[in-house]
Amino acid sequence: MGRGGRIKYFLAVLTCANLAFAAAGCGAGGGVQDENAGSVQTADAETAKTAGESDAVSEQETEPEQAAVQDPQEWAWDAADEQTLRYAFANEFGGRAGVCVPMAALSDAARMEIVKGQFNSVTMENEMKPDSLLGNKPNIGEDGFPVLSFTVPDMMLKEIKAYNDTAGKDGRKIMVRGHVLVWHSQTPEWFFHEEYNVDKPYVDQQTMLARMENYIRQVMEHYEGEDSEYKGMIYAWDVVNEAVNDTDGGMRTDSSWFRVFNNADFVEQAFVYANRYAPAHIKLFYNDYNDTNPKKADGICRLIEQIKANPEARIDGMGMQGHYDMDFSDVLFKQSAKKYAAVVDEIQITELDLKASRGFDGTDMEEEYQKQAEVYQSLYDAVKSLKQEGVPITAIVFWGTDDRHSWLQSANAAGGSADGTRVQCPLLFDKEYEKKPAFWAFVDDSRLEQAE
Ligand code: GLA
Repeated sequence: MGRGGRIKYFLAVLTCANLAFAAAGCGAGGGVQDENAGSVQTADAETAKTAGESDAVSEQETEPEQAAVQDPQEWAWDAADEQTLRYAFANEFGGRAGVCVPMAALSDAARMEIVKGQFNSVTMENEMKPDSLLGNKPNIGEDGFPVLSFTVPDMMLKEIKAYNDTAGKDGRKIMVRGHVLVWHSQTPEWFFHEEYNVDKPYVDQQTMLARMENYIRQVMEHYEGEDSEYKGMIYAWDVVNEAVNDTDGGMRTDSSWFRVFNNADFVEQAFVYANRYAPAHIKLFYNDYNDTNPKKADGICRLIEQIKANPEARIDGMGMQGHYDMDFSDVLFKQSAKKYAAVVDEIQITELDLKASRGFDGTDMEEEYQKQAEVYQSLYDAVKSLKQEGVPITAIVFWGTDDRHSWLQSANAAGGSADGTRVQCPLLFDKEYEKKPAFWAFVDDSRLEQAE
């Protein structure tokens, strides 16, 4: 192939399906996106042009390179991949296998081996949250807005990038779920107050919207800007987390976001700004827990409808956090997933773990492991049957690599059996990083039956 032919070939493979690394947009988000054409196009047309140009330039210097394949069902594998979560998920329901990692995992080689050996999606446990980027004390720039600090999450992104360069097969490359832009928790209180001073009143709504827009713009520029070394690594953002209450599906009121607005407008606006600044290949999610509660699911769907009614907003997906327990109901799970699928294009299980059985005292771990594997198996069967019914679940993300490091081990607000005093075993690898029966529930359930 001559040079001209090679350039054409390269540009041709930069198709819509292959764009996640190229940061261009061909209208992800289906109907919602189409309505947005006006606001999205300007930014995207520019990005598409620049991405095409710079790729063509670098292609002239190097051999033609096949653009990354982003459809899990198209990934090529070899024997080394076979007993991995990412291989199983790609083949069995066409989704990514994800895990949350904190910074501390970076200095734990064995833990990073699990991440790199099993998964192709990573969510930072805390490091991309507003309190991490904004810091404890306000650092205000000349423009009057907080200056964000990305030093901590970027250490993890550098590690992932270096791994991706050597990973070889597309299905082994790790993409990042951005978590989270707008949340009532883990956001410094000063962010909501006049002069960034908690002793002053809350700011008015216009000021708060300007702060929100500036925050989202800074995040997107840092990760997707023309010169960003991380461009294309993030494939989804949780734009808003946990805005709906657990009782009647209305708005959560114990939130400084809500106190400033007194309605759901801040949620809608967050999706307007995310759409304005994120390239179209980044999927924009609403994320929440108690996601199988029918009233809450209905409330979330109402909120999503409000977002969709705004022509400047875009929402692509629903993140079912999936902090479940041993009373997990696959029936309720499927019912809720179908409700979400009626209003968004895709669903991800974004923070999956299982609290131990009620009354579990930590003595018979093997029995609890077995029970847990069965619950995970029923969840996985539900995911696969939803897929058959056309409900697109595009990732299952576990909230941690191993039982030693689960947030459920310490006192927290999770309730139920996770009160900080009871042993928990919520994940797929045990405290010694060994595979548990729950791992085989996903990867090869014939081994699970043998273990019974
Ligand atoms: C919520 C958040 C997560 C995490 C968990 C608990 O689900 O979305 O980021 O904080 O709580 O660890």
